[in-house]
Amino acid sequence: MSQETEFDIAIIGAGPGGYVAAIRAAQLGLKTALIEKRKALGGTCLNIGCIPSKALLHMSEHFAFARNDAVSSGIEIENVSLNLDTVMKKKEKVVAQLTGGIDILTKKRGIERFDGFGELQGDNRISIKGETDEKIIQAKNIVLATGSEAISLDFLPQDERIVTSDEAIAFDTVPEKLVVIGAGAIGLELGSVWSRYGSKVTFVEFLPKIAAGFDDDVSKLLERTFKQQGMNFHTNAKVTGALESNGKLTVVAEKDGKEIQIPADKVLVAVGRRPFTEGLGLETAGVDRDDKGRVVIDQHFKTTANGIFAIGDIVAGPMLAHKAEEEGVAVAELIAGKAGHVNYDVIPNVIYTEPEASSVGLTEVQAKEKGIPVNVGKFPLTANGRALATDATHGIVKVIACSKTDKILGAQIVSKNASELISEVVTHMEYGGSAEDLARTVHAHPTLSESVKEAGLAVSKSAIHSL
Ligand code: FAD
Ligand code: NAI
Repeated sequence: MSQETEFDIAIIGAGPGGYVAAIRAAQLGLKTALIEKRKALGGTCLNIGCIPSKALLHMSEHFAFARNDAVSSGIEIENVSLNLDTVMKKKEKVVAQLTGGIDILTKKRGIERFDGFGELQGDNRISIKGETDEKIIQAKNIVLATGSEAISLDFLPQDERIVTSDEAIAFDTVPEKLVVIGAGAIGLELGSVWSRYGSKVTFVEFLPKIAAGFDDDVSKLLERTFKQQGMNFHTNAKVTGALESNGKLTVVAEKDGKEIQIPADKVLVAVGRRPFTEGLGLETAGVDRDDKGRVVIDQHFKTTANGIFAIGDIVAGPMLAHKAEEEGVAVAELIAGKAGHVNYDVIPNVIYTEPEASSVGLTEVQAKEKGIPVNVGKFPLTANGRALATDATHGIVKVIACSKTDKILGAQIVSKNASELISEVVTHMEYGGSAEDLARTVHAHPTLSESVKEAGLAVSKSAIHSL
């Protein structure tokens, strides 16, 4: 064991929470250590999550366009075929570029990187087990940012065909039949990828609707659109097991009291993620967790142990990279004696399907449940010129505002580039903007963003291009 070095801050886990905290801490002049067990920095997000899935979504969208839609734009391509090996290599190149970039950033900031598994030892000490050695470091402040892992369903058999997103971002062949358990963000995104590459994709979703975080009208629109793309959905259906017979796999589910059987070549279990705190030494250090295994923190990210903080997927709140990043910045600022803060009321959420679905703030239902009187403005993409000109008419913008103050409470967007369009609403909400503010902001023509303005106008029943 080597000699102990003391840091102002040591961060365990180099995902978007951890590496961002490290960079901000170093910017603020703190002597910073970053501990990561994976070879590359960037965590789930860069290595096996956000980035590889978006690369696959992008490439598969081009493939689907070439195969199904190009002809309607006057492009006649014969014999469109897939080279999955090239797809995966390109995805890996994107990941390598980005994780390499984080490596350079952290080095240039003077952050000391430790490769290995971090474990709390108590008394501000962390042991780091590398491949060949073990080190101990000391830090005045420790930030836990160890992220999450996919939840698996224990009642399904151990079978290499039953996988999580970790494997489904790297299939080496296109499964003929893919069953996706869970129609949330991961299921819908990766289901879309493999459907575009030719899989027959069937979803089994426990709840009565898909994309559960959205209002019913928006979820229904999404389901209808995905069905038109060839994906199948069993909602209100509970998977009870999987059978194996003559080498063939069948997923068994229960819907309306009846059993359904769905043949599968691969099964993607996408039923959520849980905090990853295994082997972290939480008990030794006196760090408490809640009944969902999340590290308990106060509003300043302090855990129940002195000098130990936690951020990102291991604490409560949406499991999103940008939420983890904002917490990373805030925790570093608080530790440096500044006023770090995250506005949890205004965290956007996106599902990167085609069309994309994005949301921020309260849904219409949530606002009503809170007893807030609302006005809702909706604008269909079919009435937007840019959408018509670019084959992007599947969608809607919905703005929810308080009927007393006109303050924007939330928005939901189904559209091409909904991930980008939502930013405008986020900014208005951040500054306490009203639906009228949104509606009176000049938008370039022709753009999809005019639909956001029109939905703002629709809140006061004054949309120009729809009734
Ligand atoms: P992680 O990114 O999980 O990073 C934690 C790191 O800690 C890991 O690198 C891990 O190896 C390391 N670690 C764990 N324990 C130890 C230890 N004891 N010692 C040393 N190192 C340790 N979110 C979005 O916002 N947008 C998206 O488009 C999106 N797409 C996703 C797609 C998929 C398929 C998945 C799985 C997730 C996606 N997410 C997305 C969620 C996003 O990846 C997470 O919310 C985000 O990565 C959480 O960041 P984090 O820093 O808390 O943890
Ligand atoms: P999720 O929580 O988004 O969706 C899981 C779905 O599975 C839910 O609809 C749930 O009702 C359903 N479900 C749960 N148990 C079930 C069962 N036994 N049978 C059938 N259905 C069941 O979780 P998901 O998609 O696994 O994603 C995990 C996390 O990763 C999410 O918190 C998400 O925020 C994050 N993520 C974010 C992305 C993005 O921002 N674009 C993309 C991918 C993941």
